[in-house]
Amino acid sequence: MKKEFFIKDIALADKGEKLVQWAMDHMPVVMGIYKDFSHKKPLKDLHIGCCLHVTKETAVLMKTLQAGGATVSLCGSNPLSTHDAVAASLATEGIHVYAWRGNHEKYYWCVDKVLQAKPSITLDDGGDLVTSLHTTHTDLLHYVMAGTEETTTGVNRQRVMAKNGDLRYPIIAVNDAMTKHFFDNRYGTGQSTIDGILRSTSVLLAGKTFVIAGYGWCGRGLAARAEGMGANIIITEIDPVRALEAAMDGYRVMPMKTAAQIGDILVSVTGNKHVIGETAIDNLKDGSLIANSGHFDNEINIPYLENLSEKKNEIRPNVTQYILKDKRKIYLLAEGRLVNLAAAEGHPSEVMDMSFANQALTVEWLKKEGKTLKANVYPVPEEIDREVAKRKLRTMTIKIDSLTQEQKQYTKSWQEGT
Ligand SMILES: NC(=O)c1ccc[n+]([C@@H]2O[C@H](COP(=O)([O-])OP(=O)(O)OC[C@H]3O[C@@H](n4cnc5c(N)ncnc54)[C@H](O)[C@@H]3O)[C@@H](O)[C@H]2O)c1
Repeated sequence: MKKEFFIKDIALADKGEKLVQWAMDHMPVVMGIYKDFSHKKPLKDLHIGCCLHVTKETAVLMKTLQAGGATVSLCGSNPLSTHDAVAASLATEGIHVYAWRGNHEKYYWCVDKVLQAKPSITLDDGGDLVTSLHTTHTDLLHYVMAGTEETTTGVNRQRVMAKNGDLRYPIIAVNDAMTKHFFDNRYGTGQSTIDGILRSTSVLLAGKTFVIAGYGWCGRGLAARAEGMGANIIITEIDPVRALEAAMDGYRVMPMKTAAQIGDILVSVTGNKHVIGETAIDNLKDGSLIANSGHFDNEINIPYLENLSEKKNEIRPNVTQYILKDKRKIYLLAEGRLVNLAAAEGHPSEVMDMSFANQALTVEWLKKEGKTLKANVYPVPEEIDREVAKRKLRTMTIKIDSLTQEQKQYTKSWQEGT
């Protein structure tokens, strides 16, 4: 395949290389796979098409797939999440990169470029690659053997496709691996969402009323981290079990309309639409900060906010001040896009180490087993999930116990009681 890339500036490659080196030094599990792949070349002859946030951690995954013998094409999975220096560094390494920060207009053109390379395996984050294949590029579907999906929103979309009989090839839900969402969604999104809010605003969290919409994996992590910095947490939910869990974890739970009236900082992380919607916006306190850490920027009803406003100022990078007709000032962070990726660096490398180890090992597994699967959404094979946990523990020099013969026997029997 002809060497091709469309990025911001190739001169940023040196800077990007240093960032990628930093990530490599903090991703020992993926680097172990990298070494193994370099030696055995298990992905030889594969063409892999990826739509992922172009971060330093993604670069480590791309280099690992390439080390395994694959040809790799990559576009960003969000217009604001590409780190241009990282994209430049990847371009110099022979990865076909189509991504730059602020790419609102040519976002789908970049997705198309990845698909036009006729990948046999797709790696998606949010489902835009898969959706494009099933709508505007159905002629290329027959090249694809299988795919993986990195995030909750993408898995949800592909499950709907499978349920409606629209999905045309098998997808492994990497998001659903225990060693992915228990850690990446919870600790990764928890910490990096705070990071994005602080880098963009530098506000004090202690004593602030911090509203989190959605008490799923990401919401739980965010609540724990914001509480740890002294914020008073309010949770809004639509699921009674999750709402109950939040209440028993010690948080106040209430409808968004009420929360909006008292929140200083409001973050949506649900995967749903217009969660900070018309009613919430009508009730926001003067001076509130609003942000989103869910996959799409439609969690906040930005068009409604725009309509209510008489003036809009870029107060500082990633902070837009809306002055409403009723004179309230509302601050929207990172255009309502994933605040942890758009205003900070996304998840820490240490947590992406597990998510991307799942990706790399799943791609290797798909090369062998992909053809045997029907078009549906599948879990990551359990042996891969557990292997990632074992390898991560090893790199953290943590040892654990194993079952004794007596315990093995005991856990298999039902007769033995008191
Ligand atoms: N920022 C990141 O880097 C990052 C990382 C992982 C996942 N995500 C994204 O974050 C979102 C959430 O992921 P998750 O893994 O926590 O999902 P999840 O399914 O575990 O949790 C989502 C929660 O939102 C709740 N919810 C849905 N609609 C709601 C509404 N109108 N009001 C209040 N709560 C509502 C659901 O009941 C659920 O408890 C998804 O879009 C996912 O793709 C982002």
